[in-house]
Amino acid sequence: MEFAEQLKSSVDIVSVIQEYGPRLRKSGNNYSGLCPFHNEKTPSFSVSATKQFYYCFGCHAKGDVINFVMEIEKISFYEALKTLAERHGIPMPKRSQYADEDSKLRGAVFQMHEYAQENFRANLDGPLGEAARAYLARRGVAAATIEQFGLGYSDRSGRALLRIFDQRTFPAAQLEQSGLVRKRDDGTFYDYFRNRLMFPIHNESGKIIGFGGRALAADDNPKYLNSPETPIYRKSAVLYNLHRAKEAIHKEDRVILVEGYMDAIGVTAAGFGAVVASCGTALTLQQVQAIKRHIQKIAVNFDPDTPGANAAERSINLLLQEGLQIRIVELDGELDPDEYCKQRGAGAYQQRLDAAKGYFFWLADRARKKNDMRTAEGKVAALKALLPAVGHITDRLDRMTIANEVAGYIGVERGIVLDSFLKAVADRQEKAFEKPKVALRHDERMLLNALLTQPEMCEEVIEALKPSEAVAAFLSRRIFQAIFAVHDSDGALSFDGVNARLEEADRNLLAQAVFTEDGQYTREEVLAAVRRVSLSDEQNRVAEIRARIKELERAGNMLEALRLMAELPKLDPGAKGKRAGGR
Ligand code: UTP
Ligand code: MN
Repeated sequence: MEFAEQLKSSVDIVSVIQEYGPRLRKSGNNYSGLCPFHNEKTPSFSVSATKQFYYCFGCHAKGDVINFVMEIEKISFYEALKTLAERHGIPMPKRSQYADEDSKLRGAVFQMHEYAQENFRANLDGPLGEAARAYLARRGVAAATIEQFGLGYSDRSGRALLRIFDQRTFPAAQLEQSGLVRKRDDGTFYDYFRNRLMFPIHNESGKIIGFGGRALAADDNPKYLNSPETPIYRKSAVLYNLHRAKEAIHKEDRVILVEGYMDAIGVTAAGFGAVVASCGTALTLQQVQAIKRHIQKIAVNFDPDTPGANAAERSINLLLQEGLQIRIVELDGELDPDEYCKQRGAGAYQQRLDAAKGYFFWLADRARKKNDMRTAEGKVAALKALLPAVGHITDRLDRMTIANEVAGYIGVERGIVLDSFLKAVADRQEKAFEKPKVALRHDERMLLNALLTQPEMCEEVIEALKPSEAVAAFLSRRIFQAIFAVHDSDGALSFDGVNARLEEADRNLLAQAVFTEDGQYTREEVLAAVRRVSLSDEQNRVAEIRARIKELERAGNMLEALRLMAELPKLDPGAKGKRAGGR
């Protein structure tokens, strides 16, 4: 564990999390923002820099900086350590005890991708790459762009990578899993990519996890050959170019979504760096969520052909579902984004971006074109086509405005539009995320925080609380028990140490306690809380005795009842407060 501890203390959890998108705002001692792990409109994600811990009140995601990287990148503990260490220039211990089989395999596959990239790059620059270079030149891809996107060329031999992997003695089992070579029926291997222009695909940390390979000849099928799914590549989770685009996305406050590798490259080369593409699949929920971690505003710029428009329409609903603000960019002349930038220039593309329509009008346009708007049936069909998107307009006023405009746009009476809108909304009325309830009482939360952050008070607070029945009845009782146990064993209380002893439900409670209390308490405040707890101990005892007395009276055992009654004044909590807290 040592190295993990060292790592945790030398990276700043707040900035690591922000690198993955969420904007965090300081509030009191902590930071908060929109949760990257679930869909929400108001922030319930909290980060404590001092405790190096995050917690979401909505979905209960929680943990330290290593857990965060594991969760968000979907990688193992060891890989998260490695990622963080590399990014912060902290050397990893040589023979690491953390590397399990799975991580070793993934590590090897990462390495194979690096060797492959080296080979593809060298090919493109060398004699084998002549045709590929000519192709790129024909398409107007500048040398700097080739360099920036790491474009390469896979030769025709079908043995280049195989030879390299052989020299480096990667075992056959790893070869098979790399996605870079394939096995023949007779057990021999050959390179998966042959005679193709190679586009490396990176994860958000900027490591190569796969390739797209474009055919150079028009009759070579498929046009693009993509890496298969491997231990390091999940198509549905990756957006092409996101790792490069991050900075521009934040600066420009919106992302452009295009369909193709070449579109992302062409648009970037024209000066619009905030562009991503899905990698040869329809847009997926995971991809939308990856976008949303960085930005809420998206300009969808798909190809102008029918499949492109259909894909855009499908994507809109997914994007809306995740609450993104969508505009649709329309290019004239049947050009895709890459061609448009090259033929019309950056200025023209900027104009198209500026003129991008709200998705609703784009949908309405499409509905108008698809239906015969001179007939009542056509109008109704057009209206119907819009309804799935209506349910996502959460703002009442927005809905009224849009209903008004749509009514005019498709020539249906306003009242009818609004009625059908309202119905569509009611139909998909989702249950809003329950507002986070803070289950713990103020005293519990305050005592937990004091115990974990104010060591000078621990001794006396613990001594006072340990025998308390009120504490034993707390919802947080198991957290207190863990604290007592840690205190008994070695005395040094830390958030991590206590947290490690807890089960899931109690970890949530502890995280809530940490993020709902703010700051240090004075000695007086803490002792007052201890007194209130002790007081309720006494009140409980009094109540218990009163109940016993009633029982005895009912049973006719007056003598015993009287004896108990005599004990009451001694215990009466109103009388004296000296009992609690002191010691
Ligand atoms: P396009 O055909 O629009 O490709 O497909 P493109 O990127 O614009 O490339 P050029 O300009 O024709 O060279 C869009 C995306 O769909 C995926 C690729 O990710 C491509 O970038 N695709 C396309 C495939 O995965 N396989 C294919 O056979 C074709
Ligand atoms: Mn294209």
